[in-house]
Amino acid sequence: MCGIVGVLGTHQVAPLLVESLKRLEYRGYDSAGIATISDGRLDRRRAVGKLVNLSDLLVHEPLAGRAGIGHTRWATHGAATVANAHPHRAGTVAVVHNGIIENFRELREELSKDGYSFESETDTETVALLMRRALASGKAPQEATAEVLGRLHGAFALCFLFEGEEDLLICARKGSPLAIGHGDGEMFVGSDAIALAPMTDRITYLEEGDWAVITRAGAQIFDAQNRRANRAISRIQVDATRIEKAGYKHFMAKEIAEQPVVLADALRHYTREGGLNLPEDIDFSAVDRVTLVACGTAHYACHVAKYLFESLAGLPCDIDVASEFRYREPPLSDRSWALFISQSGETADTLAALRYSRDKVAKVVSVVNVPTSSIARESDVALPIMAGIEVGVASTKAFTCQLAVLTLLALKAGQDRGCLSREQVAAHLENFRCLPGLMNHALSLADDIAALSEQLAEAQDILFLGRGPMYPLALEGALKLKEISYIHAEGYASGELKHGPIALIDNRVPVIVLAPRDHLFEKTVSNMQEVMARHGKVLLLSDAAGIQEAGAGCWKTLTLPQVPDLFAPILYAVPAQLLAYHTAIAKGTDVDQPRNLAKSVTVE
Ligand code: F6R
Repeated sequence: MCGIVGVLGTHQVAPLLVESLKRLEYRGYDSAGIATISDGRLDRRRAVGKLVNLSDLLVHEPLAGRAGIGHTRWATHGAATVANAHPHRAGTVAVVHNGIIENFRELREELSKDGYSFESETDTETVALLMRRALASGKAPQEATAEVLGRLHGAFALCFLFEGEEDLLICARKGSPLAIGHGDGEMFVGSDAIALAPMTDRITYLEEGDWAVITRAGAQIFDAQNRRANRAISRIQVDATRIEKAGYKHFMAKEIAEQPVVLADALRHYTREGGLNLPEDIDFSAVDRVTLVACGTAHYACHVAKYLFESLAGLPCDIDVASEFRYREPPLSDRSWALFISQSGETADTLAALRYSRDKVAKVVSVVNVPTSSIARESDVALPIMAGIEVGVASTKAFTCQLAVLTLLALKAGQDRGCLSREQVAAHLENFRCLPGLMNHALSLADDIAALSEQLAEAQDILFLGRGPMYPLALEGALKLKEISYIHAEGYASGELKHGPIALIDNRVPVIVLAPRDHLFEKTVSNMQEVMARHGKVLLLSDAAGIQEAGAGCWKTLTLPQVPDLFAPILYAVPAQLLAYHTAIAKGTDVDQPRNLAKSVTVE
């Protein structure tokens, strides 16, 4: 989603702004712009498409100045055009904005009646005009900000720059994260610490409703009631913000390859010799139900976890996508726990679902990759997945680490509820420790997968089938493939095939069957036979025993190592990711920043 930077520097800021925006590219965007103040004059440059277009523009039309703001925009209100790109300017003020101003129509009407006209279709321009009107009424920037913020509904992070004010930025946070960076005689604002990492490691995270008046001397922070607020400065580990491809062609390739290592890190973090090592307050003894809520890939991790909580712990488990959960007003018991799964920890719907649940359940637990995120901070217990920064828009290592942490939670639930003995849990953990090695084996299939992906890339539609915990994997495999290769793909529970989707089968539709040789194998194979009987092109992913038993007649097979049932979803995620990756490569799409997608979805 959109990215914000702001700099009160000691040198020319335009290059710094563009550099920081580059670090936010991973969030997804379709236009970009910067504004600076030079000799008291406010000026801006904006360009559609990748940042290189903005850089080119700046070569021909440079911007001087030691104070500035910048933005990458992911279009919500109005197409990706220069007029809609940020910063938006109204008179002496420029503003960049993440999020959505929900009451912008009514504000637009009010401003139009007051004689103000609009140059863009965006909700953001209303904020610039409200500020212009407040300033025109004689208010100083600080007073004007308090007034304007009071008029805005919705979720936003904002950063204002004022003509004539070379030592002033005002920023605000409600619903969209924002961080302030402290330098030596310089100050910075960024949508996340990653954007600011090359400039400073001293960060203040604004809290919900906070706004700040920033000069080179420091930041004065106010809370939602406009009272002065003290917010700590924390030191971030710059290592944790390093975003480099380390020799890989794409971040996604690097992140797929990193999985054995980060998974082992997560395991080390949550286990100790012979047992689990989860925080003390993770005790499921008195819990009568768990509700797991997330979006997209993280939701599929919940879907796998449902099988695990139910089978290992006999614990009833509901799952839902956050955008539905938050509005259907589900009844929640005060003996239940709600779990929110999110890589970014900032997904708007997941955060809203968390807030809905907070007073209704006994405990709010989150499983996140960003420990400083809003979701982590608003949970009773936040469990980091230890995946390290994930830059590729398509989630890979975060998914498998989410699965790892959820599997450990399900084992803990089994132990706390008397369904599993400590010895049984220890035996599962012993198996778990072999998983990174098995994942390395799965990664070694990359060349075979690349070869067959050349042919998958020709397909118009692709189906994924699985049973039991492999069903959510089929959904995830299809999601991964469609988001980066733009090939239409669907995942189905194998048993559902003849209830409709079988009508799609012909010799042009590849059907990818995820079927480790487990207790459901025979059933899945029967469904696979039904596909083959209709000339469907089956790609079977199984272990050696499964391939030997059912590989004959398949279009292609991929042999994975044998894996204990409990960990099969984590292992089979790897070839599913590689299939998506190599098919996208064969199609020549933008793997790390696929069209229309954003890494952190901070709007509904
Ligand atoms: C797909 C993908 C998305 C995210 C979803 C939730 O590859 O990455 O479906 O899983 O947008 O994001 P987080 O986990 O940040 O809440």
